[in-house]
Amino acid sequence: MSRTLAIIKPDAVASGNAGKILAHLEDGGFAIRALRMTRLSAEQAGAFYAVHRERPFYGELVEFMTSGPVIPMVLEATDAVPSLRDAIGATDPAEAAEGTVRKLYAESKGRNAIHASDSDENAANEIAFFFSESDRITTR
Ligand code: RTP
Ligand code: MG
Repeated sequence: MSRTLAIIKPDAVASGNAGKILAHLEDGGFAIRALRMTRLSAEQAGAFYAVHRERPFYGELVEFMTSGPVIPMVLEATDAVPSLRDAIGATDPAEAAEGTVRKLYAESKGRNAIHASDSDENAANEIAFFFSESDRITTR
């Protein structure tokens, strides 16, 4: 078992799909090990997506991620990072496979319902970004 970070993004929270996305992920074999709701500042969102700082969509991305509350969570599964990337689908919902979170709930490539870490190293950093050690539920 390993862990990864997901964030239900502002579009999905605002449209009332957060509960359905959580159920979809649990049904898909992911166990929730930490979860909270927060509203990101521009500084926080900018830092979280700093890898995209030079990209043309960076300003829009920070604006979107600060537009309303988000729900970051720690998910546990076998091969959690690649498993969750499979479960959320392609960045652009028009290209996302049937049954993926983005196919089901994303509005567009920018407003795409959910974030997932893309490597074990980034997962560890992103989990630490949102959760302290004492927030993380251990089962053994
Ligand atoms: P994420 O980091 O949120 O899980 O998404 P991802 O890996 O699938 O995609 P990434 O390339 O890391 O892009 C991060 C987020 O930036 C927004 N984006 N907009 N308008 C555009 O062309 C564009 N490209 C990316 C999306 O919200 C994307 O999830
Ligand atoms: Mg990414």
